[in-house]
Formats: sequence, C-alpha cells, structure tokens
Amino acid sequence: MKLSQVENLSDRFIAFPLNDLMDDILTDFKTEIHKFNININISPDLGVINGDRVLLKQAFVNIISNAIKFVKPISNPQIHILSIKENSETSIKIIDNGIGLDNSLDINDIFKLFVKGNNSENGVGAGLAIVKKIIEKHNGKVVAEKNTPEGLSIKVSFPNV
Ligand SMILES: Nc1ncnc2c1ncn2[C@@H]1O[C@H](COP(=O)(O)OP(=O)(O)O)[C@@H](O)[C@H]1O
Ligand SMILES: [Mg+2]
Repeated sequence: MKLSQVENLSDRFIAFPLNDLMDDILTDFKTEIHKFNININISPDLGVINGDRVLLKQAFVNIISNAIKFVKPISNPQIHILSIKENSETSIKIIDNGIGLDNSLDINDIFKLFVKGNNSENGVGAGLAIVKKIIEKHNGKVVAEKNTPEGLSIKVSFPNV
C-alpha cells in the first residue's frame, strides 16, 4: 500500500461489522498468534463502520501487527480490542501489554513517516503513518497512549453519525 493510493481514496464506502474485519485479520495472523501463545480478546460488540473495507483492513492490520510484534518478547502476551461509545464519537482501542514505547521516541511522533523505535526488529516506520492517513480519510483520528504498567494502546475514533 502506497501513501499515494491512500491519497486517491474514492467514494467506495460501505457499512460493515467491524467484528467481521477483525476476524479476517486474526485469521491472517493465526500462525503467529499460536506460535507465541498470544491471548487475543475481542469484544463482540465493535459495531458497524462505514468506510472503505480494504483501507480500513490495512489500517487495523498495521496496528495489530505492531501489537503482535511488541507483545511477542514478553511472557504473558495479551491484546485486547474493544470499543468505547461516547456522546460524539466511538473509539476502537487496541491495547497490548508488550514491551511498550522505546524511550527515545515521543509518543506523538510514532505516527510520522519513517519514525520507528530501536526495538522494532522489522518494518521501516511507515505503518502508523499509513494508519493516520487512512483514519483521517474516514473523518476519524488516532492517538497512542501508554499503558500502566506495561504496553501501548492505539485508540481510533470516529464521529457518531
Ligand atoms: N504496540 C506498540 N508497542 C510499542 N511500540 C509501538 C507499538 N506500535 C508502534 N510502536 C512504536 O512506533 C513505531 C512506529 O510504528 P510503525 O509506523 O508501525 O513502524 P514499524 O512497525 O515499521 O517500526 C515502532 O517502531 C515502535 O517503536
Ligand atoms: Mg508497524
């Protein structure tokens, strides 16, 4: 996926259940999830989203592949995916208890192109920049939050319609 392709997003939005998309993604990562004994918990009520399914899959793949990459080294790897409904927006949160953010990085900078931590064994630091682009094309926003005691959460929010 190139950023230029994201730039040219046409009006291909459809409404689909986010849980279906998550099931798809988990199927793609099944081997790795089993190999590293990762406990993934997905709320059954993620709701319906209106958007470009291909691009939104790419966005959540990028987020979840990071979560998997950074929980792999720890002994009790957990990833939780849940939704939070508020008055004006609904958020999807991908929470992991992984190694957390590299000390050298500012939490807001991880969405910049080619910014990556020292402990990221593979990847060029483009994943989250693409996520930001895709989510913004859906009128949403994305932020990262440090978890206590360990790990990182990525929160993707869309305005309620
Ligand atoms: N779940 C996470 N836990 C800890 N650090 C993360 C997580 N997701 C992203 N990061 C940090 O943000 C950086 C940028 O992520 P990304 O753009 O996907 O690049 P890449 O995966 O190629 O390193 C990563 O290198 C890593 O330092
Ligand atoms: Mg990545």
